[in-house]
Amino acid sequence: MNQIESFATLAASVGAPSYIRHPRLLGWVREIAALTQPERIVWCDGSDAEYDRLCAEMVESGTLVKLDETKRPRSYLARSDATDVARMEDRTFICSESRDDAGPTNNWVAPGEMRRTLNGLFAGCMRGRTMYVVPFSMGPLGSPIAHIGIELSDSPYVVVNMKLMTRMGRAVYDVLGVDGYFVPCVHSVGAPLAVGARDVAWPCNRDHKYIVHFPETREIWSFGSGYGGNALLGKKCFALRIASAMGRDQGWLAEHMLILGVTAPSGEKTYVAAAFPSACGKTNFAMLIPPPGYEGWRVTTIGDDIAWLKPGPDGYLHAINPEAGYFGVAPGTSYESNSNAMRTLTANVIFTNVALTDDGDVWWEGMTKTPPAHLVDWQGNDWSPDCGRKAAHPNARFTVSATQCPSLDPAWDDPAGVPISAFVFGARRSDTVPLVSEARTWEEGVYKAATMGSETTAAATGKVGEVRRDPFAMLPFCGYHVGDYFKHWLAMGKAVAHPPRIFSVNWFRKNGEGKFVWPGFGQNMRVLQWMVERSRGRAHARESEVGLVPEFGDLDWSGSTFDAQRFGEVTRLDRGQWLAELAAHDALFAKVGEKCPPALARERERLAARFGA
Ligand code: GTP
Ligand code: SPV
Ligand code: MN
Repeated sequence: MNQIESFATLAASVGAPSYIRHPRLLGWVREIAALTQPERIVWCDGSDAEYDRLCAEMVESGTLVKLDETKRPRSYLARSDATDVARMEDRTFICSESRDDAGPTNNWVAPGEMRRTLNGLFAGCMRGRTMYVVPFSMGPLGSPIAHIGIELSDSPYVVVNMKLMTRMGRAVYDVLGVDGYFVPCVHSVGAPLAVGARDVAWPCNRDHKYIVHFPETREIWSFGSGYGGNALLGKKCFALRIASAMGRDQGWLAEHMLILGVTAPSGEKTYVAAAFPSACGKTNFAMLIPPPGYEGWRVTTIGDDIAWLKPGPDGYLHAINPEAGYFGVAPGTSYESNSNAMRTLTANVIFTNVALTDDGDVWWEGMTKTPPAHLVDWQGNDWSPDCGRKAAHPNARFTVSATQCPSLDPAWDDPAGVPISAFVFGARRSDTVPLVSEARTWEEGVYKAATMGSETTAAATGKVGEVRRDPFAMLPFCGYHVGDYFKHWLAMGKAVAHPPRIFSVNWFRKNGEGKFVWPGFGQNMRVLQWMVERSRGRAHARESEVGLVPEFGDLDWSGSTFDAQRFGEVTRLDRGQWLAELAAHDALFAKVGEKCPPALARERERLAARFGA
């Protein structure tokens, strides 16, 4: 058989459309189909017609509820299985050849053993279902910073979410050509359908869930969950876990960061990237609306969750948002807290696990001050304000295209990325950590980010409200040894002529009554302005034990009633709390072990000395 014939045979065997010219891709699809045994293969083209058709099919099958067309045009609600509501960190694996490459913060299983497990689980797992072939680009199509993935999934919900979250569709194959590189991503809800059996609204596997990464071969295999980061494999699995390992090898960074632009009244523009753990305010900060008193200032959004950063020819780190949409936390989002998000959500949205109103719209805790008198909750049950349950799941989310965001930055899709002047690391801490501080050196900044602790949220399973160390907000997302990651960060500061300044923030200090002292949200502009000014070598700061900090008069309080006494409450450094903090840093470094860079141990000694410890 000559080559042309064998390609044609291969393409026909998987029903590939004629615009696909990539033999390795076809061979891989055939191999996965042989393993998983789907009833049919559908090659997604990413068109609006395809999106509408899949949504209509899911309304028919009960997976989606169509919302009222006048209130929320072209929008849908999905209710997930109660066992499948968030990322599952304890079911997430980094299967590097050597255990040491995964490090102490990742679950590791030997690749051979994991492949045997996966082969067992995936054998026949798509029976009775459709296998969708989903081509996507993380980053602007064809950009030198972008990378391509193909996800094979038996979930139409995943397909429509990928359409909103990534550059998904036929154009990806033009970039791939006949032998272009792509990251293979295999996903199954792990719920084969027997002949004639009726499907459930949210198929998943209640007993077995695996989110698996092979960093050396850059493969992703996900089984048993249809939710968020477990299933939309371009996001955490590819753009953070696999990409962080690629960045280590190739000299760049893949981070759990929003990217925003700040334009001053003078027209001067500064780009900032900020890392906060899950559900700690990235989307809010990325879409910040400056408060009254800040006329002439504007904040624009490049990304709300992930940044890829590479050294640019101008000596700055340049950032792109590899995503094309937002998978944002719904609870707490309101016209008061984030009107840009609310305006993004007026049409063409997929909501997951929010409540349904009687007139076919959505509601969640915090959306309005007074809840509706009656709702259908995220599990499909009747709900009233006095029933004692939450109407929306705390990790309920919206999926929406970035192009709908009113604050979208004109450069959000620029293949060259934007030059970053400041890195911000923020976490959820009721005490200890002050409102804002600036690292005196790159090394001190890396130390601050490495030792960050945060109170846990509903974005992952486990206890909520407990302080855990979350280095760089990357604890669940670093695809290799965290000690090597610290080392890589230390090296990146020297790899560019103009490394960004590094800041730490905390919007979440509480008073004796357990109430947040700092008003947060739009008011964070005052801190953002100070950081921008500092990164340009302008605003005043004084020395403190934890770095350079503003005095009350160093922030702009126009239009504010926040007084010096409350400023003291959110900036005070308590020696006792910091001694406990140092002990927590020591415990982290002990866990990181021998790979923890000596530069960080030196920073620890300096910090301890400043507290007289
Ligand atoms: P992931 O998408 O999970 O990575 O999270 P994210 O960091 O984008 O989370 P998001 O911005 O959606 O954070 C949502 C939660 O943070 C909600 O509970 C908000 O009310 C809260 N939040 C955001 N900004 C602030 C703030 O300035 N102050 C306070 N107190 N809460 C905030
Ligand atoms: C996070 O948990 O940090 C998220 C949501 O951004 S998910 O995509 O589900 O991981
Ligand atoms: Mn996130």
